[in-house]
Amino acid sequence: MSALDPRALRHAFGAYMTGVTIVTARRNDGTPVGFTANSFTSVSLDPPLLLVCPGQFLSSYQTFTTCTHFAVSVLAEGQEDIATVFAGSKADRFAQVICSDDLHGVPLIRDAVAQFSCTSHSCVEAGDHSMLLGRVEAFTHHEAPGLGYVSGRFFSLSTERAALDHVDGLTIAGAIVQDGDAVLLQRTATGLAPLHCAHQDRGALLTHLRDTLNAMGVQASLGQAYSVFDDAKGRKHHSYFLATGTQARPNADVVAVPIGELSAQTFASPALRTMMLRFADDARSRHFGLYFGDTEHGGVHAPTDRR
Ligand SMILES: Cc1cc2nc3c(=O)[nH]c(=O)nc-3n(C[C@H](O)[C@H](O)[C@H](O)COP(=O)(O)O)c2cc1C
Repeated sequence: MSALDPRALRHAFGAYMTGVTIVTARRNDGTPVGFTANSFTSVSLDPPLLLVCPGQFLSSYQTFTTCTHFAVSVLAEGQEDIATVFAGSKADRFAQVICSDDLHGVPLIRDAVAQFSCTSHSCVEAGDHSMLLGRVEAFTHHEAPGLGYVSGRFFSLSTERAALDHVDGLTIAGAIVQDGDAVLLQRTATGLAPLHCAHQDRGALLTHLRDTLNAMGVQASLGQAYSVFDDAKGRKHHSYFLATGTQARPNADVVAVPIGELSAQTFASPALRTMMLRFADDARSRHFGLYFGDTEHGGVHAPTDRR
């Protein structure tokens, strides 16, 4: 038995940013099996080898450790739903996505950024997982941004980058700081708002936001962009980021509101209210899409499966 705290170790492992893949094979009777995996690694060019680690907990574990062929599809931005289906759906996973068979008859996910068709090379048991090495027999690849995953959340880097590209005018930067089951909010004259600051220089914005949080006595680490919008008159640009943290020093302007009570609060603007209610929803499903648009029109990137 290891003396390490497994929960803490899982979190530490989860800090490593990865892409997301779907690993597929067929049982002896031809039934397709598949699971979401971020343990994918490219191993060797000559011979062409890759690696994935199926866990012993998988219902398809034995199929993957004994199969002669398997395939890996690298998911594109926007394919979060597919990752969610192959991470938990108990219904027929393949009835919920569009696939095509590769040269070995193994399903490949349509519109994946890359697809690798493999012959099993070797499989080494490693603790509660196995390391399954595949020799790549064929592959496809198209230039598109891949879906990202870190700390239990999907992210879409190119969409975030595009949304945060330069705009003129004043920018409000805010952090939706989750502290356990509550969120830390700032009291303003017109109602509650995420902890925020205003700045002209977008390059210095995140540094300024971190300094603001520190000055408010909040210890937080900033995560992905969550909502990026211009106000209706287009004079102010708002960027809100997800964050986790705690109130390290008391501050009368900062209040911890349980996420379940967000809908009962008065917010400084209708746009902030809409955003915070979406956050309450997303916090339940742990799938956080990125909104961008203006205060009235816009869309959430990353359609999410509400399990
Ligand atoms: C982003 C992500 C990455 C995952 N990576 C792996 C992995 O590398 N190996 C693994 O065995 N399970 C991984 N899982 C969990 C499996 O996808 C999940 O346990 C599996 O689909 C359950 O299948 P089953 O119901 O057939 O047992 C991952 C899940 C997610 C959401």
